Amino acid sequence: MKIAVAGTGYVGLVTGVCLAEHGHSVCCVDIDEKKIETMRQGISPIYEEGLSELMVKNRERMTFTTDHEEAYQDAEVIFIGVGTPEKRDGSANLAYVYEAAKQIAHTVKRDCVVVVKSTVPIGTNDRLEKLIRREQKAQVKIAVASNPEFLAQGTAVRDTMHASRIVIGAEEAFARNVMLRVYEKFDAPKLVTDRKSAEMVKYASNDFLALKISYINEIANLCELVGANIEDVTAGMGFDSRIGNKFLKAGIGYGGSCFPKDTKALHWLANSYDYEMKTVKAAIEVNENQKLKMVRKARKYYEDFAGITVAVLGLTFKPGTDDLREAPSLVNLPIFLEEGAIIRAWDPIGEAGYRRLYPSEICYCETIEETLKGAELCLIFTEWREIQEIQPELFVKQMKKPIIIDGRNCYPPEVFKGGQITYESIGRETVCGEA
Ligand code: UDX
Repeated sequence: MKIAVAGTGYVGLVTGVCLAEHGHSVCCVDIDEKKIETMRQGISPIYEEGLSELMVKNRERMTFTTDHEEAYQDAEVIFIGVGTPEKRDGSANLAYVYEAAKQIAHTVKRDCVVVVKSTVPIGTNDRLEKLIRREQKAQVKIAVASNPEFLAQGTAVRDTMHASRIVIGAEEAFARNVMLRVYEKFDAPKLVTDRKSAEMVKYASNDFLALKISYINEIANLCELVGANIEDVTAGMGFDSRIGNKFLKAGIGYGGSCFPKDTKALHWLANSYDYEMKTVKAAIEVNENQKLKMVRKARKYYEDFAGITVAVLGLTFKPGTDDLREAPSLVNLPIFLEEGAIIRAWDPIGEAGYRRLYPSEICYCETIEETLKGAELCLIFTEWREIQEIQPELFVKQMKKPIIIDGRNCYPPEVFKGGQITYESIGRETVCGEA
C-alpha cells in the first residue's frame, strides 16, 4: 500500500520503517531538512537498535521528503506520528498534530485514512475528523482512525515488528478495512474498537505501568525503613501471575518521553471533566519525589557538595537509548552543580545530548575508569551493561572515597560486605565501608 508518515521521531520513523519491512511503500515527511537529508543517505537520526539496518534493507520502498504535498496527495494511508509535548499545565500540546491534519486536508486527492499514532487525549480523533472535513479541498473520502503505539525506546523495532497487540479505533468499515490491510502481515492480536476506546487504551496502559513503578518504589522506600529487601519482595510478588514479574524494578523513578507526559495528560483530562484521578496523581507525586532520592541519599555523606568530586555513571533515562527526556540525572545534577560539585560523567550514548545542555560545566570521560578517578562519591543513574559489569575493586582503586549511590540496583549489596566501599541502593540495606 502507499503510505505516508508525518513526523520522523521515534514513533514516526520506526513505524515507517517497519511498514516498509512488511512490503508497503512508505514516504516519511518532516520539516527538518537536515534530518531528511541524513535519512536519504540511509542514516537514522536517532539511536534505536536494528533501525539503521532495516532502513538500509528497505531503502527501495522508502522515500524521505520535506514536501508534504508530494507525500500526502496520493497516499492511501497517512500516519500522524508527530510529537505531543507537555504544556506547562500538564495537558498535551496538539499543535503539531493539528498542523499535520490541516496540511493533509489541503493536499489529499484520493480517498484515504488518516491514522493518529501520536498519543492524544481522548476525543482528539473526533476533533481531527471535524477539522479535516472543514478544511479539505478535494471531494474525497477522508476517514480518521486511532492506532496508538506501544513501543518502548531501545526496543522500538522489536516492539513494532512483534507487537504485543495492534489497537485500531475506527468508526466506519472503510477505515477498519484499510487498517486491517495495513497490518495484514503483522502477527499480533488485533483489537478493533471505537476511536475513543483506542485512545484510552494507550493512556490506560502507560499510566498503569507508571503506577506499577511508583507503587514498587514506595514499597522499596518502606523496605529501607523496615530493613526488608525489595529484590526479594518483588521476586516473591512476581510468582503471582495476576501481578506478573515485569515492571517491578525499584529505582529512582520513571523518565522518558511517555510515562511522565501521559500520566500528567490523563490527570489533566480527568480534571477537565471535574474528576480527579487519585491513583494517577499519586503516581506522579511519588515519581517526582523518587527522582530526588539521589541528592537526599548523598546528603547523608556530604552536607553540601562544594568542591566534592562526583563520578556520574549513566545519564539517560534508561539504557539502550540516547534520550534524556525526564531523566532523573537532569533533576539531580543541577543541584550538585549549583552547590559547586565537580562532576565527571560517563554515558555510552547520552553524552552528546548532555553536552548541548552542559557544554563546559561537566567533565565528560571516555571510560568508566577515568570517570571514577579521584571521586569522593559515585552516582549511578542508568543501568548500562558496562556499569553493571564493574568489579568492586575498580571503585576502590580509582575513587578517593568509595561511596556509591546506586539508583538502579546494579549490584547485590553482598558483594560489598566486609570491604572498603560504602554502598547505598534502593530498597535494600546499606553496606558501610570499613575504610
Ligand atoms: C514506555 C512504555 O514501555 C511503552 O509501551 C510506551 O509506548 C512508551 O512508554 P519507554 O518510555 O521507552 O516506553 O521506556 P520503559 O522501558 O517503559 O521505561 C520507562 C521508565 O520507567 C524508565 O525510566 C525506566 O527506568 C523506568 N522503569 C521501568 C522502572 O523504574 N522500573 C521498571 O520496572 C520498568
